[in-house]
Amino acid sequence: MESTSKIVITCPPRINVHLAKEVEHLGFKVHKTDRMGVQIIGTFNDAMKLNLHLRTGSKVLYQIHSFKAVHPDDLYKAVKKFPWEEYIKSDGYVSIQSYVKNDFIRDTKFANLRVKDGIADRYMEKFDRRPDSGPDSSQTVIFLHWQLDNCNIYIDTSGETIAKHNYRKIPFKAPMLEALASATILASDWDKKSSFINPMCGSGTLAIEAALMAIEKPPGLMRENFGFMHIVGYNYLYWEKIVKQAQENVIEVDRLPFDIIASDLSPEALSAARTNARNAGVEHLITFEKCDFRDTLIPDDGGVVFLNPEYGERLGDEKELEGVYTEIGDFFKKRCSGHKGYVFTGNLNLAKKIGLKAKRRVEFYNGKIDARLLEYELYSGSKRT
Ligand SMILES: C[S@@+](CC[C@H](N)C(=O)[O-])C[C@H]1O[C@@H](n2cnc3c(N)ncnc32)[C@H](O)[C@@H]1O
Repeated sequence: MESTSKIVITCPPRINVHLAKEVEHLGFKVHKTDRMGVQIIGTFNDAMKLNLHLRTGSKVLYQIHSFKAVHPDDLYKAVKKFPWEEYIKSDGYVSIQSYVKNDFIRDTKFANLRVKDGIADRYMEKFDRRPDSGPDSSQTVIFLHWQLDNCNIYIDTSGETIAKHNYRKIPFKAPMLEALASATILASDWDKKSSFINPMCGSGTLAIEAALMAIEKPPGLMRENFGFMHIVGYNYLYWEKIVKQAQENVIEVDRLPFDIIASDLSPEALSAARTNARNAGVEHLITFEKCDFRDTLIPDDGGVVFLNPEYGERLGDEKELEGVYTEIGDFFKKRCSGHKGYVFTGNLNLAKKIGLKAKRRVEFYNGKIDARLLEYELYSGSKRT
């Protein structure tokens, strides 16, 4: 599997531009960026490297086959002909997933079944035994992308999504997906040299992601199982080598030369944030404070103050939250001058209550909710809109 192939890296919606930058930063040339994610050309080893390092991706898909199919029977025949034994162990377990857009298939489950049947029938004819199959994505995962008559088949080298970074055992309320939290930090102007202040930290995702970035610890080091590990002949020596390199590159320090501060009014949130930070190996790098957001310690070094307040969709009531957003504006104005202020919210009406003019508005989704990262340049005497 040293040959090169198309690799598609998927990501949550609107994160593709941030993912593309991350992929380029890892030394890959991005061939295409679209709604689904980013495409590169690379080897199976490259796919492993991407799984280890990416903070903003969801799945790393390595293409193994591509053919034309109009009818589900064409799909079955092409799948049955393919030498699956080069990838899937006959005593293994495989899960089939798909995206399908054509006239014959209404339900992707039917396409998955045709792929599973093609694989199973091939194994039964050749070896008189076949891999088990089902919905569990913790072993071999095969992904079918079938649009009109174009069929592309990939190994999902991630298996379970890498958008979760595996340290959050206690979610508290309305936590941000780790890949989304990372993408919002990468979209900010935080320089990893000055403070990162996260009032209203909830389960601590933003502060933890910032700390992981500061010490250059990639999310893949916090995970032991990936889809690629279940593929016949995967190069575990290469995997051990890149894991060791990544471990050696982690900046081991007792404290950072700048502050990362996470505060919340709720003791349960803080306890969750601490536990999650401990799981990520960064608890000692974050100062936790139980306080109202307005009382959060703000070091005088011109860093970033980053809030993700509730926004009435999932928690709290919109009317009640209006006051909170107005107070965020006051807090920025009175206590954070000389800093860059960021608010990540899924409620654009509430965002107006902040009452300061946003210098930049970056579009995101939080799940299905249209969301924005709003950037405020805070200088003494910041103007109200
Ligand atoms: C949407 S959650 C933050 C989620 C967080 N980004 C995460 O990924 O877990 C908002 C948090 O604000 C906290 N909060 C609400 N009002 C507050 C206030 N006045 N001062 C400090 N924290 C507050 C809540 O306790 C909650 O944990």
